[in-house]
Amino acid sequence: MDRYVDLIHQNYEFPTVEFKELKNELFFHDIPLMKLIKKYGTPLRITYLPKITQQIQKARRLFRNAMKKYDFDGDYTYCYCTKSSHFSFIVEEAMKSDIYLETSSSNDLEIIKSLQQKGKVDEDMYILCNGYKQKKYTDGILDLFNRGFENIVPILDNMKEADAYANQTEKVMQIGIRLAADEEPKFEFYTSRLGVRPSEVVNFYKDKIAKTKNFKLKLLHFFINTGIKDTPYYWNEFTEFLHLYCELKQICPTLDTIDIGGGFPIKTSINFEYDYKYMTEQIIENIVNICKEYNVPHPNIFTEFGSFTVGESGAIIYEVIDCKAQNDKELWYMIDSSFMTTLPDIWGMKQRFIMLAINHWQKEYNRVNLGGITCDSMDYYNSEAEGQDLFLPEYKEDDPLYVGFFHTGAYQESVGGYGGVQHCLVPAPKHILVDLDEDDNIQTRLFAGEQTTDSMMKVLGYK
Ligand SMILES: Cc1ncc(COP(=O)(O)O)c(C=O)c1O
Repeated sequence: MDRYVDLIHQNYEFPTVEFKELKNELFFHDIPLMKLIKKYGTPLRITYLPKITQQIQKARRLFRNAMKKYDFDGDYTYCYCTKSSHFSFIVEEAMKSDIYLETSSSNDLEIIKSLQQKGKVDEDMYILCNGYKQKKYTDGILDLFNRGFENIVPILDNMKEADAYANQTEKVMQIGIRLAADEEPKFEFYTSRLGVRPSEVVNFYKDKIAKTKNFKLKLLHFFINTGIKDTPYYWNEFTEFLHLYCELKQICPTLDTIDIGGGFPIKTSINFEYDYKYMTEQIIENIVNICKEYNVPHPNIFTEFGSFTVGESGAIIYEVIDCKAQNDKELWYMIDSSFMTTLPDIWGMKQRFIMLAINHWQKEYNRVNLGGITCDSMDYYNSEAEGQDLFLPEYKEDDPLYVGFFHTGAYQESVGGYGGVQHCLVPAPKHILVDLDEDDNIQTRLFAGEQTTDSMMKVLGYK
């Protein structure tokens, strides 16, 4: 008999750091998922808060060790990119590790004010402000600066943006410039719309930044949306960026930092392999070599990891509510929610996540397609990260089967429009937070119940 449990052990090195199976049921970071399902029902979103601190510590350790190895003189600073999950419980958990924040809109600045009111941030924190900025955002940046957040750094997306701050403050403001990177060769555009053209940066500095009394150029920003990957494309873009940093450093003494954005990946399959140590060392080695060429000091490094900070803290569990054989080959397992609304990256960018059955591991398995509850034909999930087929234990109507998607903590709620009106009026699922108490016992608490019909009716103007 081909049992699901055997399939998992044949295909993967199992158990893993995060997953184990006990009596045919799955545990995620030792959380007994079936117990949670019995207590809270499905669909159920879960955030495992301790993972956030672990990730921050991991990045700090990686950079500290790499810097030591290459006698690197600069400092490393961890910033969290709030747009990957704005929730208070995420940002507050991350802030416990003395990190700083990167913002992307005027409303992000309200988060900082709220944290300040709660006494959770110090005014000397770094706030890195990215994004194309309209007046509300630039005004908000000036407002926070004038309230005493003197380490708020607008990172100019374009040269015009400088006018919003020029001569608007009595004290000197730190300024960053984002460099427009070239996109991956197979992309639809050649150069990113985000940032300033590299060929214009030196003159822009000389003609504008250096001549503006309240400006001090602090950092250059570099981010490519395909992430930090060991590809010729990534290293080519990164080293071009470093050459420009060094050129500018030779004429701009205040410039002392590079911001290398986000882009550390997360595990999207059990077999995921990424050599974080090697990649961090390569980053540092490249900086050391290029700074030596130009005879300039090593810069400080800021990162703005989003997915890496929160992605692996998240999971979502669905019940399989039906099984439909639509022809002799294709078997559909229907879930009690929607992929399009709860994990929109699956639909929008073919994102894959770790998917595992929560129970019935002793049963035989089927090759399946998973279908969401909306009427949309795109509301499906049918392959693993490496393109392999999906397998789940047999479904029996009177014996509920549950399936979990893991490492779903970044971007899904904001891209899906959490709390708003979603496709076919599918409600946002219940969301619980899982934490450890002082004795490392698992504690759970409800963050939000399932979205109510009433709230949707209000948004739609019926109430
Ligand atoms: C400017 C900037 N920094 C950081 C990030 C975070 O990227 P990631 O979630 O890949 O770490 C993003 C994501 O879009 C970004 O645009």
